[in-house]
Amino acid sequence: AQVEKGGHKHFMAKEIAEQPAVIGDALGHHIQNGQIALPDVDFTKIDRLVMVACGTAFYACLTAKYWFEQLAGIPVEVDIASEFRYREPPIPTGTVALFVSQSGETADTLAALQYCEGRADQILSVVNVPESSIARGSDVVLPIYAGTEIGVASTKAFTCQLVVLVLMALKAAQDKGRMDAETLNGHLTDLRNLPGLMNHALSGNTVMKKLARKLAEATDILFLGRGQMYPLAMEGALKLKEISYIHAEGYASGELKHGPIALVDKKTPIVVMAPSDRLFDKTVSNMQEVMARGGKVLLITDAKGAEEAGDGMWETLIMPEVPDLFAPILYAIPAQLLAYHTAVAKGTDVDQPRNLAKSVTVE
Ligand code: G6P
Repeated sequence: AQVEKGGHKHFMAKEIAEQPAVIGDALGHHIQNGQIALPDVDFTKIDRLVMVACGTAFYACLTAKYWFEQLAGIPVEVDIASEFRYREPPIPTGTVALFVSQSGETADTLAALQYCEGRADQILSVVNVPESSIARGSDVVLPIYAGTEIGVASTKAFTCQLVVLVLMALKAAQDKGRMDAETLNGHLTDLRNLPGLMNHALSGNTVMKKLARKLAEATDILFLGRGQMYPLAMEGALKLKEISYIHAEGYASGELKHGPIALVDKKTPIVVMAPSDRLFDKTVSNMQEVMARGGKVLLITDAKGAEEAGDGMWETLIMPEVPDLFAPILYAIPAQLLAYHTAVAKGTDVDQPRNLAKSVTVE
């Protein structure tokens, strides 16, 4: 088994470390001759997207909503499959349904897909297993090329899903005439640089191990993010609770004052995922609100953000600078590594956490 884990202690650690390579693969498959190669989807015909998934794949969908809406101007509805399938949601003409699933076998997601048959204009899926039931039920299948994922807590499948989804959003923006060739090429160049940045982020492993030892002492942890980092805050919280069994919640930074700030005390670490983007100063004031109440802020940002945020942080983790659009993909790495090392510090079964299954094929 040690060989299969490639020298790592757990499959999860191996899969986290593999991300630069598998993302390189995914980019290689979906970008050809400098063009995004998604030949079977006519984005000009999509008026509205409905995205449905479970768990980590659901958070990939929520992130992609920001991309499809901002880049391509396509309104997006995102839902968890177990709610969508029984809600009998109306599916207006011009709606394309998009299902995201690592395994392609999740029962609720498959049932949601079946509900869309004959209702949606087209059924697309983003999957890791191209022979899966969800893939077979789709008009167009977009593989994520993450390779087999064994750790129950999804890591590399998540970032590969994000890569495929952002490529779709960029292609949609191009097809809808909302992005010129030069801007698109700039984004594609940035994407090709992403594996290098991810390697850089992975090299912060030792620091994250140290931080995780402190997180392991907490009973509750809040994750905050704004804009496209908000879904990642929820994914960071999910990862942590799945494998370390510490109660964690992901919130939108701006929503903090409407409830969760009541939880903040001297014992509560608050992990803030915030590259220095256009909304950074708003996040800084949210952090100040937390710090004024004795909360311990772990700020994950770039060097510029660390400087702008000023003093008073409990801990700061410096990330490489990344173009705004791709920040959620890069910042997934510290979210995963913090959860991983916290779980290791607590001595839990990282690859097979209690009560969880890799693929949920029954309702
Ligand atoms: C299970 C797994 C999660 C996963 C979810 C959706 O709950 O434990 O890690 O995110 O299913 O799985 P899928 O294969 O559809 O992406």
